[in-house]
Amino acid sequence: MSIADIGAAVIGTGFIGTVHVEALRRIGVAVHGVLGSTPERGAARASALGVPRAYASLEALLDDERIQVVHVTSPNDLHLSQARQVLEAGRHAVCEKPLAMTADESAELVALAARTGLVNATNFNIRYYPLNQHAHDVVAAGDLGDVRLVTGRYFQDWLLLESDWNWRLQPERGGALRAVGDIGSHWLDLMTFVTGQPVAAVMAELATFIETRREPTGPVETFSTDRSAETVERAIATEDAATILLRFGNGARGAVSISQISAGRKNSLQYEIDGSQASLAWDSEQPDQIWIGHRDRANEILLKNPALMGPSGRAATALPGGHVEGFFDTFAAHFRAVYADVVAGAASSRPGYPTFADGHDEMLVGDAIARSAREGRWVDVDRSPARPQPVIAETHR
Ligand SMILES: NC(=O)c1ccc[n+]([C@@H]2O[C@H](COP(=O)([O-])OP(=O)(O)OC[C@H]3O[C@@H](n4cnc5c(N)ncnc54)[C@H](O)[C@@H]3O)[C@@H](O)[C@H]2O)c1
Repeated sequence: MSIADIGAAVIGTGFIGTVHVEALRRIGVAVHGVLGSTPERGAARASALGVPRAYASLEALLDDERIQVVHVTSPNDLHLSQARQVLEAGRHAVCEKPLAMTADESAELVALAARTGLVNATNFNIRYYPLNQHAHDVVAAGDLGDVRLVTGRYFQDWLLLESDWNWRLQPERGGALRAVGDIGSHWLDLMTFVTGQPVAAVMAELATFIETRREPTGPVETFSTDRSAETVERAIATEDAATILLRFGNGARGAVSISQISAGRKNSLQYEIDGSQASLAWDSEQPDQIWIGHRDRANEILLKNPALMGPSGRAATALPGGHVEGFFDTFAAHFRAVYADVVAGAASSRPGYPTFADGHDEMLVGDAIARSAREGRWVDVDRSPARPQPVIAETHR
């Protein structure tokens, strides 16, 4: 079997569903159809994207024998039921982050995926900027020495105004954590990936500066700046911003700030990792360069270049040095890694891409963050065996 034999479908046709469709096409996967919130909306989006079919329901999608992989890009409250149905129908699943609404839900998906042996991935695409893959190799090779300090931020501004609205503001659709679940999960996953260290404990403060917002009576697209004249007032319970102290598994310390209300910061993820011998820093708005800091010689800036990166960085790169790769490209690089397992027919024993287990781990870190903020104290991330653990695969598709 080759990638040209694989058929996929995408659930959700909004901001990120569109990116999934285009990235799949780029890596040579046939996207046979999409599923929208209604058959009419699905049909309109299928037509705009040039996708042959809009399914009337998830059942109709799963009746299509050509579909081997389903991408779940709907709002967060639908991830569990849709991903569960996909796996139970024997299809491989790629699900957007956050993987689910609660850690119990994500644990269920981890266990189900393991029982089926199907390929499962959580779309932590930011790992797939080539220089983040390279950073992972650099830290793993010991080039920074011992990782001691991990700091950074993830700032956006699209929810700055009280008139800004999106389903993410409704806890029953987005989850109990908003900025942390939506974008903080990316930063935390990325740091776990690059350093190889799990987040062990957190001390968090969550802040809701805009306690009442105006919800338009009509639908709103993610990142849209159109304003509806008709609105209703809504009380807001979730955080606009978070400040979090971190302890990692190896004893490294960290601090991250997360915000959806920082004027001018459209999508600014930054990190710095300080080791006992050298440091690394990266900024998502300059994604083709990474800073390497030294004590006794000049600092370096590495421009993304397959000839100068390690094997992981090279594998995530599609273009020669000097040809900038960005957000779109991370999806193609991630999906290439996932679809290697799809072509093989089952999840490999140690996938290199982020799986449902990684999505679940971020839910556990999120639980600790919420509890720390509630109780005003350090909280350990609870990975105790009492929680459902992945089991050995019993069946292969
Ligand atoms: N990895 C990333 O970089 C990234 C970026 C943005 C969003 N996301 C994640 O992707 C998901 C979607 O976010 P978005 O920004 O695209 O939101 P969006 O509101 O732009 O799109 C959501 C889509 O889901 C559709 N939908 C709603 N109910 C549905 C149903 N029952 N069945 C099928 N489709 C349904 C909506 O019509 C809409 O098209 C979220 O989980 C979000 O966290 C990830």
